[in-house]
Amino acid sequence: MKLTIDKWNDHRFQRVLNETLSQYPTGKEVDLDEVVEYHRTIPKHKIVPEVFEEARNHGRTLLNPRAGVADLEEMIDLLLTLQDAGGADLLPINPDSYTRTEQFEKAKTGLEDSIAAGRSLLNGFPVVAHGVKNCRKLFEAVDRPIVTRSVTPRARLLCTMVIASGITEICVGALSNLLCMEYDLPVEYSIENAQYLGRLVGWLNERGIKIAIESVTTAAAGTLSAPSIAIVSGIVDSLILAYQGAGYLSVAFPPMHNFVQDIAGLRTQRRLTRDYLDRFGFKDVVLSQNLHQWNGPFPACKHSSLGLIAVISSIASMYGEAEQMMVKTGEEGLGVPSKEANVEGLILCRQVMNLLRGQKLPDSEEIREESRFIEMEAKSILNKIVEFGEGDVLQGALKALELGVYEYPYGVSKHTLGKVILIRDAAGAVRFHDIGNLPFSPEIVAYHREKIEQRKALENREEYLMMIDDIREVRAFLK
Ligand code: 5AD
Repeated sequence: MKLTIDKWNDHRFQRVLNETLSQYPTGKEVDLDEVVEYHRTIPKHKIVPEVFEEARNHGRTLLNPRAGVADLEEMIDLLLTLQDAGGADLLPINPDSYTRTEQFEKAKTGLEDSIAAGRSLLNGFPVVAHGVKNCRKLFEAVDRPIVTRSVTPRARLLCTMVIASGITEICVGALSNLLCMEYDLPVEYSIENAQYLGRLVGWLNERGIKIAIESVTTAAAGTLSAPSIAIVSGIVDSLILAYQGAGYLSVAFPPMHNFVQDIAGLRTQRRLTRDYLDRFGFKDVVLSQNLHQWNGPFPACKHSSLGLIAVISSIASMYGEAEQMMVKTGEEGLGVPSKEANVEGLILCRQVMNLLRGQKLPDSEEIREESRFIEMEAKSILNKIVEFGEGDVLQGALKALELGVYEYPYGVSKHTLGKVILIRDAAGAVRFHDIGNLPFSPEIVAYHREKIEQRKALENREEYLMMIDDIREVRAFLK
C-alpha cells in the first residue's frame, strides 16, 4: 500500500487494532469502550496532559526518572520509592528489550525466571506479559501520572496495553524510533505503527480522554546531535501523529551542554514546531517539550556523571519552558541504575533547579545568531520535505530521507544515509563537519567551519582526533 499522511478511516483502524490485540493473549484484556470508562475515573493529577498544562502555567519543569524491573511487586516498590523518596513528578515504565522488540514469549519467560531468582533478570517492565490487569495494579498503586518510554518502532501492542491501563503518555516517532533503534526494519512497519498509535490516541481524544505522545527526535541517537535535525525530526513525527487526530504532542530536545546553543535550540524548537503545526491546520494541538539528558556514553565515575546531570538541570532551569525533563543517575555509566541512584539523581536535579529558580538566560547577540542558523538549517530541510511531498509531508520526508536531504546522524538504521558528521567546537556546541546531502547554504557551511577552526587553533590537533573524542566521551579533558 502507498504510504500517505491521510487520516485512517475507521475500517483500517479497527483492522490494525484487532491485529495488534491478537499479537499476544493478554491483548484480549483490552476493550476500548471499557478503556474510555476507565480513563474517565482517573483524577486530573494522574493525567500527563493535565500536569503538563499546570507546569506550563506555573513555569515549572517536571522531573521524570526512568525505571523498570520485571516483577510487579518490585516495580510498585520501585515507583513508590521514586515518588516518595525521590519526589518524582512523573513516574516511568521502561519496558524490557524483549517487549520493545515484540518478543513477548521471551519476556514472559524472563518474568518467570526473575520471580524464581528473586531479582530482575530483565532490563525493564514486561508490560505485555503482565497484561492490563497487572499494569492497572501498578498504575493504581502510585499517585503520579506514568509515562511509558516506548522508544521502539514496534510499540503498538505495548502502547495499547499501557493506555488501557491508565497511562497517559507514550513515545512514538514514525521517523525517530525507526532511525535510532533498528538496522533493517522496513520503513512501512514504523509508519504503520506510528499512524495506528496516533489514531488510537486520536480516537480517545475524540472521546475526551487526554493522552500525550512524545517524539524523542534525535535524543535517542545516543551521541552527538544537532539542534536543527532534532527540530526537523520532531516536526515530521508530530505532523504524522496530528493527522491521525492526536491532540497532545511533545517533542524531545537533546541538550549538548552549551548554554547558548541549547537554549537557542530549545526556543527555536518550540517556535518552529508550533508554526508548522499551525500551518498544517493543527492550531488546537497542544505542544510540550521534554528536555532529555546526554544519551551517549557516561563516565564510569559516579561523581563525573552527577556533574553532567547537574549541568543539564541548569540548562533546563535557565530555559524554563520545558514541561518535562528526564533525569539520569550517577550509575548511568555502569548499567541499569538502582533505585537509590535514581533517588539521588532526582534530588540533585531538584536542588539545582531550585537554586536557579527565577533565573532565565537573557537574550543576547550570541543566542540570536545561533537561533538564526538553527532556523535556517531546519527550514532548508523542511522546505525540501514540503516541496518533495507536494502537500504530503510523510511522502516528502521519505523521499528526503532516501536522498539524504534529511538524515539522522549516527542513526543505526540502513534507511539513513550516514554521510553527516558532527563535531564539537571550542565551546562544546555541536557543528556540522560534513553536511552530506543536507541542502544547506554556503553561509551555513561557512559558519560551522569557522567554529571548527577555532577549536582546531585552540587544541592544535587533527580534526579526526577531536571527532573520535566527541563520540567516545561526552567531553574529553584537554591534555
Ligand atoms: N531502569 C532504569 N533506567 C533505564 N533505562 C533503560 N531501561 C531502564 C530501566 N529498566 C535508561 C538507561 C538510559 C536510558 C535510555 O534509559 O539508563 O539512561
